[in-house]
Amino acid sequence: MTSRSVKKKPATKKTAAKKKPAKKKRAATPESTAKTQLYANLVVQLLSLLKGEQDFIANAANFSALLFNSLPNVNWAGFYFLRGDELVLGPFQGNPACVRIPMGIGVCGVAAQQCETIIVPNVHEFPGHIACDVASNSEIVVPLFDGERLLGVLDLDSPAIGRFDDQDAEGLNELVTVFVAHEEGLGI
Ligand code: SME
Repeated sequence: MTSRSVKKKPATKKTAAKKKPAKKKRAATPESTAKTQLYANLVVQLLSLLKGEQDFIANAANFSALLFNSLPNVNWAGFYFLRGDELVLGPFQGNPACVRIPMGIGVCGVAAQQCETIIVPNVHEFPGHIACDVASNSEIVVPLFDGERLLGVLDLDSPAIGRFDDQDAEGLNELVTVFVAHEEGLGI
């Protein structure tokens, strides 16, 4: 099953994502409250990591390390950036991964082509999924935009089936928005 939960279209200002339409409010559970708090803390930590530094690669590397080390049950976290008509591996944490992904191929290529966040509860059921790490069982891919321009995608893998949900999509979209908004001279 695939959930394309947070439709992302290019925004008009320097932001990673448009504000999503109002959704039915979820009933808060201890788990959802903890996750909300976790992502709020990550925004603070990311801003602190980015402060005073404009090197795009350095910032992307620290961003991926922050996610990899702070989010539970994640075995890969990193970027693919759009180079010409394909995605090319950027800074990441985890096992070595495939370097080039054509648009429309794999979870990353589909998310990039459709300009939307994709949550895949079970990667083995996603047609064309590219297996970089045999340990990965679920995945979330969030596209990054500089205004109307697609920059690439943020990709997270987990060994747990169904690891990512709408809260992760919202939290990660907020984080990539903070990240892209911070970068002045985008090096890509
Ligand atoms: N699984 C991804 C490829 C990248 S790795 O997970 C790091 C995909 O299907 O696009």
